Amino acid sequence: MSILDKHKIIEKNVSLLLVGSLVVVSIGGLVEIAPLFYFQNTIEKVEGMRPYTPLELAGRNIYIREGCYACHSQMIRPFRDEVERYGQYSLAAESMYDHPFQWGSKRTGPDLARVGGRYSNEWQVKHLTDPRSLVPESLMPKYGFLSKTKLDFENMGAHLRANQLVGVPYSAQQVENAIADVVAQATTDADISGLEERYTYDERFSVPLGDFDGNPEEITEMDAMVAYLQMLGTLVDFSTYVPEESR
Ligand code: HEC
Repeated sequence: MSILDKHKIIEKNVSLLLVGSLVVVSIGGLVEIAPLFYFQNTIEKVEGMRPYTPLELAGRNIYIREGCYACHSQMIRPFRDEVERYGQYSLAAESMYDHPFQWGSKRTGPDLARVGGRYSNEWQVKHLTDPRSLVPESLMPKYGFLSKTKLDFENMGAHLRANQLVGVPYSAQQVENAIADVVAQATTDADISGLEERYTYDERFSVPLGDFDGNPEEITEMDAMVAYLQMLGTLVDFSTYVPEESR
């Protein structure tokens, strides 16, 4: 009996095929999953990572609400063409405070993982309001209504607490001052000492500040969206970053 004939026995018997498949899949699963229980940590720690400020978190919520992830990824893969176009490939630690993560699965538009600081606030507002005024061939929808919609941030404290429950290390002070911190970050010439004290990690205070939407009278959804876009990918200082395996 050749090996192919032997295999026919399994192919012709559904129960045997099922048991055989389960055995093979279990071995594959064990090989992949078991080692994870023996690693100390699957996310390499990097300096500079901090949880989102309440204003950035509000912007992130709007990003999710508007479905920006349907056209934009936030995950630079370690391939030469991607690194040349978008910059340093994404590290796991850079999405450790993301619930849910925004890696995305489609790029109708460019990756946004490191768009922070690439353009001015004015550019971002103008682009979101009318993408084709800056990029004539763009097919991105207009989001001008964000400038006209007042940001609802009454419940930011509860939102920080919800993130705390799933593992983001927000302190009691950060939760308590969530509303004040939104105002401090989005207002020009505000007293930012509290915000600074609460969001300085590793001796670094790297929170974009000011009036983001060009309208200092009101805190709008545009303020939150631009504050979020301007911090994306800016937390880790790659001029001093050394991967763990080469330390
Ligand atoms: C229908 C697909 C689509 C959706 C939805 C979409 N975009 Fe875009 N976006 C694009 C395309 C295409 C471009 C490239 C052309 C351009 O710059 O307008 C782009 C460009 C951008 C850029 C400039 C990136 C760069 O590096 O030049 C930003 C920032 C941006 N989008 C943010 C957003 C945000 C925020 C949202 C949600 C509020 C959003 N986009 C929704 C398609 C989309």
